[in-house]
Amino acid sequence: MSRRLAAITGVGGYVPSYVLNNDELSRMVDTSDEWIMQRIGIKERRILREKGKATSYMGAKAVKELLAKTGTDPLDIQLLICATVTPDMHFPATGNLISDKTGLSHAFSFDVNAACSGFIFALETGRRYIESGAYDKVIVVGADMMSSITDYEDRTTCPLFGDGAGAVLLEPMENGLGIIDSILEVDGSGAKHLHMYAGGSLHPATHETIDARQHFIFQEGQPVFKMAVSKMADVSVDIMHRNNLTHDDIKFLVPHQANMRIIEATARRMEISREQVMINIEKYGNTTAATIPLCLWDYEKKLKKGDNLILASFGAGFTWGSIYLKWAFDPK
Ligand code: UT7
Repeated sequence: MSRRLAAITGVGGYVPSYVLNNDELSRMVDTSDEWIMQRIGIKERRILREKGKATSYMGAKAVKELLAKTGTDPLDIQLLICATVTPDMHFPATGNLISDKTGLSHAFSFDVNAACSGFIFALETGRRYIESGAYDKVIVVGADMMSSITDYEDRTTCPLFGDGAGAVLLEPMENGLGIIDSILEVDGSGAKHLHMYAGGSLHPATHETIDARQHFIFQEGQPVFKMAVSKMADVSVDIMHRNNLTHDDIKFLVPHQANMRIIEATARRMEISREQVMINIEKYGNTTAATIPLCLWDYEKKLKKGDNLILASFGAGFTWGSIYLKWAFDPK
């Protein structure tokens, strides 16, 4: 018997039905389908438009699907971790709201804020709770309603983001399948390039902060792009090397979906082909903490027991990281 690993034993997902495509965006700001496809690779994104619904609504939808698909009793879940930068409210944690909406009344829950690396950071956290032997059923959710903090008058950021949620179930396995290795890193000095300026304790909401449009995403695209290309590729290659993996061993890279050019640069450094990369940026855009679980959701049927996956991300913070895992189940 090999050591106790945390394995993903199910995937759930949810995207809102409203499709915001590049043509509609081109009527809102001075942009074009051609520019967005060439520079980013996004055709359309999903937007949650119903009043009274927010991140926890999408997270709960993903968790409900996960519970149904895996035949799991909500009362058996012991912990739910939610990665998000768009919580329903500053507090309580959105994880608590999702647990309440899905009947996880025996679970405790909390949120993780690592922006686009949120899912990887939360997965690493959930993994350790399982490996320690403390818990046997943990749900990790990545959910973001980016439309709630996107400035639809700013053409440099509004084409990038969309709304969505994905969730995975983690359970222990002792057959060599599951999460094997991880590398997580941060550099807080990157905060100046990508942040939401107001609404926190440093700059609480005032008429001035609202008039100055400071409750939206601020991004300096180029420095973020440069760091993303080098750091996401570095951690992906590092985790391959230290686990003695070559490009032939990799079934899929599961990259954060921020920009097609960042994804391609990472794949090139790993010397893997396009067929070995999960890509859905064209239809969902950057859903922040939800991109990686939504890729797993979309590609689930192509995955088999024992497949080697490298998950990789880069995001605000700066935060970046990679996780190496062996997929634990065949298509159902
Ligand atoms: O997920 C979190 C981490 N975030 C990222 O990974 C995002 C990283 N950054 C990027 O993906 C890219 O920097 C962007 C997609 C945001 C921007 O692409 P870029 O190739 O870096 O463009 P740029 O900012 O250098 O702008 C080039 C030109 C500028 O015009 P001038 O000054 O050359 O005349 C911009 O004003 O493109 C212009 N531009 C646009 N034109 C049409 C910027 N946004 C648009 C737009 N439509 N939407």
